[in-house]
Amino acid sequence: MKSVLYAASGGEGRESEVSTLMPRAAVVAIAPGVDHFPGFLDRAAQEALRDDILAILREAPLFRPRMPRTGKPFSVEMSNCGPLGWVSDEGGYRYQPVHPKTGRPWPAIPALLLDAFAAIAPGTPPPEACLINYYGADARMGLHQDRDEKELSAPVVSLSLGDTALFRVGGLERNAPTRSFRLASGDAMSLVGEGRLAFHGVDRIIAGSSTLIPRGGRINLTLRRVTKAA
Ligand code: SIN
Ligand code: FE2
Repeated sequence: MKSVLYAASGGEGRESEVSTLMPRAAVVAIAPGVDHFPGFLDRAAQEALRDDILAILREAPLFRPRMPRTGKPFSVEMSNCGPLGWVSDEGGYRYQPVHPKTGRPWPAIPALLLDAFAAIAPGTPPPEACLINYYGADARMGLHQDRDEKELSAPVVSLSLGDTALFRVGGLERNAPTRSFRLASGDAMSLVGEGRLAFHGVDRIIAGSSTLIPRGGRINLTLRRVTKAA
C-alpha cells in the first residue's frame, strides 16, 4: 500500500510517496536542514520496532561507551545494528564492524528502519550504521556534531521510542544560538544539507512519559551512511 509523506527537503508542500509508513506524516522545519516529523510511526509500528530492537539487544547487548582520552563513562548506553557500528572509548570515536564486548558482527538493520530512511532520504544510498542509544531516567547527551562519517552529503535520520526527550539543536559552531523541542515516541528527525553538521544533544528525558518500553526510558535509533557510495 502506498501512503504519502510530505518531503523533508524537497521544497514546501512537495509530496513524495513512501511504501509502508505513516500516511501524511507532516514535517516541521526546525531550522534549515533540521526537520522534525512528529508521529512518524504510529503505535503499532512503534511496538513492532521496539520488539525488533529488543531482539537485537539480546544479540548485541547495550554497553556503556567512554569518552576519548579521559575514559569518562557516558550516561547513555549504546549498541548498534548494521554493517558498521559507532563506538567510543579511550581510543577515540570510530565505526567498527563488531561489538566491542562480544566481538560479534552487529545484527542487521530492521526493514522498518531501512524503509523509514528511504522515505525521509529518498535516493540516498542505504544507511550502514544504526546507533542504538538507551537513555535511562537520568541520561543525557551533550551538544556534539555527527562528523565521523565520510559521506556527509547523506542525511542523518533518527527515530525515537519510549520516553519523550528534550532535544537541543544549534548551528555549525558550538557557541551558536540553540533551540530545543520535544522528541516523543514515534517521532523522526533528520539532519541534512546545511543542517547535517548542526550541533545537537539531549538535555533530558521526561521519565515515565511513555509506556512503550517495559523497563521505561528512551531508545533513539540514528541511521547514518558512513562510507562514500560507489
Ligand atoms: C545522537 O545524537 O546520537 C542521539 C540523539 C538523540 O538521542 O535523539
Ligand atoms: Fe548525534
